[in-house]
Amino acid sequence: MEATVAITKAETLKPKPDPETLQFGKTFTDHMFTMQYSSEKGWFYPEIKPYAPVEIDPAAMVFHYSQSVFEGLKAYKNEDGEVILFRPEENFKRLNRSNKRLSIPPVNEELALDYLRQLLELEKDWIPTAEGTSLYIRPFIIATEPSLQVAPAHRYQFFIIMSPVGSYYPEGIHPVSIMVEDHFTRAARGGTGTAKTGGNYSAGYNAQAKASQEGHAQVLWLDGVEKKYVEEVGSMNVFFKIDGEVVTPQLNDSILQGVTRKSVIELLEHWSVPVTERKITMQEIFDAHREGKLEEAFGSGTAAVISPIGELTWKGETMIVNGRETGDTTRDLYQTLTRIQTGKQDDPFNWVMK
Ligand code: COI
Repeated sequence: MEATVAITKAETLKPKPDPETLQFGKTFTDHMFTMQYSSEKGWFYPEIKPYAPVEIDPAAMVFHYSQSVFEGLKAYKNEDGEVILFRPEENFKRLNRSNKRLSIPPVNEELALDYLRQLLELEKDWIPTAEGTSLYIRPFIIATEPSLQVAPAHRYQFFIIMSPVGSYYPEGIHPVSIMVEDHFTRAARGGTGTAKTGGNYSAGYNAQAKASQEGHAQVLWLDGVEKKYVEEVGSMNVFFKIDGEVVTPQLNDSILQGVTRKSVIELLEHWSVPVTERKITMQEIFDAHREGKLEEAFGSGTAAVISPIGELTWKGETMIVNGRETGDTTRDLYQTLTRIQTGKQDDPFNWVMK
């Protein structure tokens, strides 16, 4: 679907950053997409314009009651210089699921993808091609109506901004140390954990700070009711390989439906590696480790793709996973996913969109 967008091009273009020193989400491209919503008009005025600060009323409801959602996906260039996206329709589907949870009006997914396509057309020179780099795309929606009423806004703004990024972990793919958090929780039954909304992330900062102080890279989140079941790791979904079988927490309303999570499951099934989505207790992980059956553990997400876990500390006990080395399944998943994403490998699933 070809969508009509008003395009104003930037008069001067910014210098592109050195791909060697790219950090995650610190530099932004020359243009951005925006579109407005009002309850009278629906979504209107799709526009691509120079990237710049926006003027927003200090009473805008997003600042007060956090009515906002976001997405994250990446664009790459294949060896023929074509721009490719990884399962972008999944991101726009999830955006609408998050919208529903946050009482934000839905967007037309096909149109949104076409707005992104037009923005990428203008910004394709910003897609870095060095190993581990990509153009990170951040669609998001905020409530802009000036009002302190505790109720859904009548006005919103949808943005797409883009940032050339290096690896999420500057040190590259290497196993990290995890602290199992048994006080703070990331999400509650019936809460917003499955939606991609900012508060789910900032609510994790204090536990993250505690983990960092104790020398760990990330937090492993347990369920908010019994603090018994494993849910996520940092801002990623989590997988364990136990005695030859890969397991991951089954989806519920406190677990994010990761696009990478879904792709990992589909890839493992394609390889005939046993993979199960089910409830997993932390005790089970501990027992599997004690019995020598905890073979691998890793997180999955768009930003880092696959992040191996080298050790887990729970109630003062440290479980070393695979001698703190990246396991074979973890490495195969990382390599295959990143090769499909960058167009270096056949894509039997039709995940990649040009
Ligand atoms: C991801 O793994 O892609 C995330 O959700 C982290 C992101 C918020 C930076």
